[in-house]
Amino acid sequence: MAIVDRIEASIGRALEIPQGGLAPAALAEALPYAVLPGGARIRPTILMSVALACGDDRPELSDAAAAALELIHCASLVHDDLPCFDDAGLRRGKPSVHCAYSQPLAVLTGDSLIILAFEVLARAGEDGRTMRLIRALARRTGMPNGICAGQGWESEPQIDLGAYHRSKTAALFIAATEMGAIAAGHDGEAWNDLGALIGEAFQVADDLRDALMGEEALGKPGGQDALHGRPNAVAELGVKGAFDRLNDILAGAISSIPSCPGEAALAQMVRMQSQRIVPRMPARYRA
Ligand code: IPE
Ligand code: IPE
Ligand code: MG
Ligand code: MG
Repeated sequence: MAIVDRIEASIGRALEIPQGGLAPAALAEALPYAVLPGGARIRPTILMSVALACGDDRPELSDAAAAALELIHCASLVHDDLPCFDDAGLRRGKPSVHCAYSQPLAVLTGDSLIILAFEVLARAGEDGRTMRLIRALARRTGMPNGICAGQGWESEPQIDLGAYHRSKTAALFIAATEMGAIAAGHDGEAWNDLGALIGEAFQVADDLRDALMGEEALGKPGGQDALHGRPNAVAELGVKGAFDRLNDILAGAISSIPSCPGEAALAQMVRMQSQRIVPRMPARYRA
C-alpha cells in the first residue's frame, strides 16, 4: 500500500476510537473535522519514509506512530488558531474549529486529540519499542523542548529565536525521524539531526510562504509573521537570502541521513517533499 494510503487508513482507524458510547455529539463531530481532510501530512510521510528506509519490520507500529504524530500536529493547529493564540479564522481552507464549533469545543478537541495520540500508541504494543515511541512523542510535544515550549516562547518578553523555532516547528520533525526509526527497531537518537534540519528548512519555507503567498493559495491567513511582528527568516535575510538559506539547509539534511538499507530512496523522498512545501521564487528575485 502507498504511504499516503497507509497514513489515511491509520488516521481513520484512530478517529473511530473516540466515537460511540456516551460521546457528546458536537465534540464527537469536531474531532474528525479537525483532522480530515488533511493538509500536507508531511510529518507522518517523513516518519513512514524513515521506517521504510530502516526496514519497516513492524508496519502496524509505524502506522500507529504516523497517526499519533499527525493527531498531535492537528491538535496543535486547533489550539494555535484560538483567539488567545493567533486568532485565525481559516485552517486548511475551511473555518477553524473554534469558528465552526465554539471556543470551548476547540479547547476540548485539541485536548482529546492529544490524548488520542497517546492512546493509539499505547494500543499498538506493550514492548520496549512502543514505550520508546511514547517517550519520543511526549518529549517532542510537551515541555521543555516540545511544541508546548515553542508556543510558550510567544509569551516571553524576549524570544530566543533558536529555541523558539526548534521547539515550535522542528520538534515534530525530530519526532518524525526518531519515531520512524524506533518503529522499525533502530536507534532514534541517530535520526535526530535529520529531523532537526528538515524542521529548520520547513520553518524557512513556511516563513517564505507566509510572506509570498495569499490566503487563497495557503488555505489560512497569510502575512501573519509581519502582522504579529514575529521574527522570521524573510525579515532577517530578505526573500533571496531566505531561499539561499533553505537550499543550504536541505543539502545539509540530505547529507545527514544515517546509513541504512533505504538511504538513497530516503534522500529522494526528502527532495520530493521539499519541492511540495517550498513556494516558487518570484521572478524578480531570481539572479
Ligand atoms: C503548519 O504546518 C504549522 C507549522 C508548524 C508552521 P503544516 O504546513 O504542515 O500544516 P498542514 O498540516 O499541511 O495543514
Ligand atoms: C503553528 O504555528 C502551531 C504550532 C507549531 C504549534 P504557526 O502559528 O506559526 O503556524 P500557522 O501559520 O498558524 O500554520
Ligand atoms: Mg502560532
Ligand atoms: Mg498560527
